Parts: sequence; C-alpha cells; structure tokens
Amino acid sequence: MTTSRELFEDDLDLPDPSAQQRYARLIGLDPIKARLAKEAELILQPHLLQEWSLRTHKTVLPAVDRLAHRPPLIIFAGDVGTGKTTLAETFADAVARRHRIDVRVKRLSLRARGTGAVGEMTRLIGTAFDIVLDEARTAGSTRPTILIIDEADALAQSREASQMHHEDRAGVNALIRGISQVATEVSGVLVIMCTNRIGALDPAIRRRAAAEFDFSRPNDTQRAAIITDLFEGVPLSSSDLRQLVELTGPGDGGYGHTYSDLVDRVLSATCLAAYPSDPITAELIAEQIRICPPTPPFTAQP
Ligand SMILES: Nc1ncnc2c1ncn2[C@@H]1O[C@H](COP(=O)(O)OP(=O)(O)OP(=O)(O)O)[C@@H](O)[C@H]1O
Ligand SMILES: [Mg+2]
Repeated sequence: MTTSRELFEDDLDLPDPSAQQRYARLIGLDPIKARLAKEAELILQPHLLQEWSLRTHKTVLPAVDRLAHRPPLIIFAGDVGTGKTTLAETFADAVARRHRIDVRVKRLSLRARGTGAVGEMTRLIGTAFDIVLDEARTAGSTRPTILIIDEADALAQSREASQMHHEDRAGVNALIRGISQVATEVSGVLVIMCTNRIGALDPAIRRRAAAEFDFSRPNDTQRAAIITDLFEGVPLSSSDLRQLVELTGPGDGGYGHTYSDLVDRVLSATCLAAYPSDPITAELIAEQIRICPPTPPFTAQP
C-alpha cells in the first residue's frame, strides 16, 4: 500500500514565520503576487465571492457560480531560478494571515512518477489525489490546501509527444482526472503546477488552468534591487551598483544571471572569498560575478 509519506514531501503548515520571510524576500514579483493573492483567495475561500455578490448585487450572480466551478489550477511557468517553487510554497502565508486561517501546503514528490511499471504512475497519481481529496473533505473550508506539483512537465508531458511512453499518457489522464475531481468534489483546494517547459505541458492541462503566470530573469532594476538587498551593510556607491548590474546583465550569451545565481552562488562565493580576514567590497563582488557565470536557460526538448 502506498502511503502519504512516499508520495509527498513533508507538509508545510501556514502561517509560518520562515515562509513569511521567504515570501517577503522575493523581488520583482509584485504584479504576480497581487494577482495570485486574489485568485488564490477566491479559490481557497469561495464564500468570499458570494458575499461580495450579495453585498454589491443583492443576489449571487450566475457569474459567481461559474467562477466557483473553474478548475482550481494555476500554472507557474518560466526560466530557472526565478522564484516559482519559493512563491508556490509561501504565497498562501499572506492569505492565511489575512483571513486568520491555517493553510496546508502539500508537495507532490517526484517519486509519484514511479519506476515506469505498467499502471504504476496512474495508480500513484490517483492515490495522491485521493489523499488530498480525503484530507480536504475532513478539513472543509476551515483549512484550505495548496497542492504543489513541481517540475510538472515530468508528470504532465504533452500526450502529443510522439516518443511518449504509453505509461506517461495514462499518467496525464490520471492528473486531469484528479484536477477535475478537486474541482467538483471538494472546495478549498488549489493546485499549483510549476514548470520550466510550458510548451511540454499537455494542452488539455493548460486549457484547464484558471491562470498561467510567467516568470523571467531579473531586469536591470530588479538586479539592482536584489544586489542591494543581498549586500545590505556593504558600502556600494551608485557607480559600483551600476557596474554590478551591468556585469550580471545579458552578455554575449544573451542571458543574464538568474535570481538564484545571485542569491545562491554569487552571495556565498563573495562571503567565502572575503572570509576570514577581508571585508566585502564592490571589486570583490565583481570578481565573484565573473567567476560564477549565469545558468543557461532550460532548452532541452520534451
Ligand atoms: N524573484 C526572486 N527574488 C529573490 N530571490 C529569488 C527570486 N527567485 C528566486 N530566488 C531565490 O533563488 C533560489 C531558487 O528559487 P526557486 O527554487 O524558487 O526558483 P525556481 O523558479 O523554482 O527554479 P527552477 O526552475 O530551477 O525550479 C531561492 O533561494 C530563492 O530564494
Ligand atoms: Mg523550482
């Protein structure tokens, strides 16, 4: 028998101070954050839409009913290291705080893909959705659930891909069935799929999404913001900052540093280079940027 522990990473229960901090540190995503908060709020707390309709129209408009029956699926698509996973894991912290509710984040493990044995992926995905549906029935709308399917292209590859294994096709069907069940049988569940390869996602899945958000590498202003944030306390003049922004921008390769290149690589390389006896300077940061080139965009074919 497959257990919850085998199919999911550890649950994240929100609100949580570390999620709040990770969310707050995401730069350049304000328009996505604002739209997502609204979408998520209405999917996770559908009664809010009814209350609004009653307040403003004195009746529950048919539009509200239609909206309530949209598949509760949102897709995060875009370049590597641009905050998709972090945002998916943390955005509901703000929703939880605003409405004084608990939200559970469940993360489907890549293990749910199985080993390729006939029928295995279908069974694993089916079981994963059964667990989410069961939990949602018990919790009701008092504790909504976010189900994250990260690297979704691994599970939801286009059924049109000619080389696709029969087993994968069955997995996509199981996924579509799961999402439809979530839409019709329970409320307060939102599925988020993240992918680097939106083109590889099955069109039947994309069509069902209530919204699709695009994530991209930081532009000049966003790189300036993240460099300032990362090196807070280090004296950087405006010409230093201009130089660092330039150095991390698109060079000959046509692509610049990703957020994670800066947060995970340049920052640690710089600290380690300065430690134990030197201070961090603009020159040292520039040197480390040259040593840590940007991650190439994801181009592998589905
Ligand atoms: N917009 C951002 N602002 C600040 N930090 C960011 C941003 N995007 C990513 N990071 C940082 O980069 C790291 C990787 O982010 P994350 O895993 O969320 O990216 P991703 O888009 O899911 O990448 P992948 O496509 O490789 O899965 C994290 O440490 C995160 O905090
Ligand atoms: Mg990710």
